[in-house]
Amino acid sequence: MAALVSIAVAESGYMPGKILIVDDESAARLALATLLRREGFEVTEVRDGAAALSHCASFCPDLVLLDILMPGMNGFEVCRRIKATPETRLTPVVLITGLSATEDRIQGINVGADDFLSKPIDFNELLARSRSLLRLKQFTDELENAEGVLFSLAESIEARDPYTRGHCERLSQMSARLGEMRGLPEDEIKALRWAGIVHDIGKVAVPDAILLKPGALSADETEIMRKHPVVGERICAPLRTFRLVLPIIRHHHERHDGSGYPDGLRGPQIPLTAAILQLADVYDALTTDRPYRKASPREEALKIMHEECDRGWWNRELLDAFTMMIGNGHPSPSPKKMGRAAR
Ligand SMILES: [Fe+2]
Repeated sequence: MAALVSIAVAESGYMPGKILIVDDESAARLALATLLRREGFEVTEVRDGAAALSHCASFCPDLVLLDILMPGMNGFEVCRRIKATPETRLTPVVLITGLSATEDRIQGINVGADDFLSKPIDFNELLARSRSLLRLKQFTDELENAEGVLFSLAESIEARDPYTRGHCERLSQMSARLGEMRGLPEDEIKALRWAGIVHDIGKVAVPDAILLKPGALSADETEIMRKHPVVGERICAPLRTFRLVLPIIRHHHERHDGSGYPDGLRGPQIPLTAAILQLADVYDALTTDRPYRKASPREEALKIMHEECDRGWWNRELLDAFTMMIGNGHPSPSPKKMGRAAR
């Protein structure tokens, strides 16, 4: 049967992964490890919860097979900690138990377990479930890699301009804070955090001669610069996890009166998340040095923004909320030299 399973695995194109076995019973643990190694998996086995957690950090398993009943830290607690750690929260955990009580399964679900297996273990069932979870983990890793590439690209663009250092991180924090104050759902707040980092990723298409030009841009240069929201949206579009980030990237230079770009949206046509990020973007630009002017103090920056609001550029209600947030002690960005980040 093991040979049949191996053939099925080979035909499906599945690549074996790294499995961590956690069980205080050495005979059961070693038997399982031997069988899984025979299937081509890279296996590490440990006897208690503390060792499991340290191996999660050092071995970086793709799957954890975790016994529930162990002396010291039990499987529920180990699972809870794995799922509470950012680096391992997406690592699948299968709880292995002799317990059949429903409440134990419920407790397992509550601590984030991905699947359950009952003792005595049916090896073919274990293989089938492991393969399924490992495939899912591979997809997750690929997705995370793609996101990682985009964030790295965004950071490298920020690094091109010495005047914009730290801008994206500040933007991310301010936007998410204003989003929370406005009662936005968690997925939109997360989108704001991500957009703070990647909103200007389209500047990858803007030459240094334009991006770093200290004086006013010519009409042609302005046109190139104004393509960056659309280019950025196109770069990030293939990632479904960026679905809520895309409208922020595209519309972070629109203005309330329709005089912005790229689509000249007006008032409520502008996505609220984009309007939020934009206020933070403008404020951060005003409160940091530029090659041709010094940073404005907090009060001066807000005064300028309210004057721009009188001109019709910003949503007044949102600007009032932003002003209150800044006035209530949101950490003002430390003055840094600033380039062509927001205007
Ligand atoms: Fe921008």
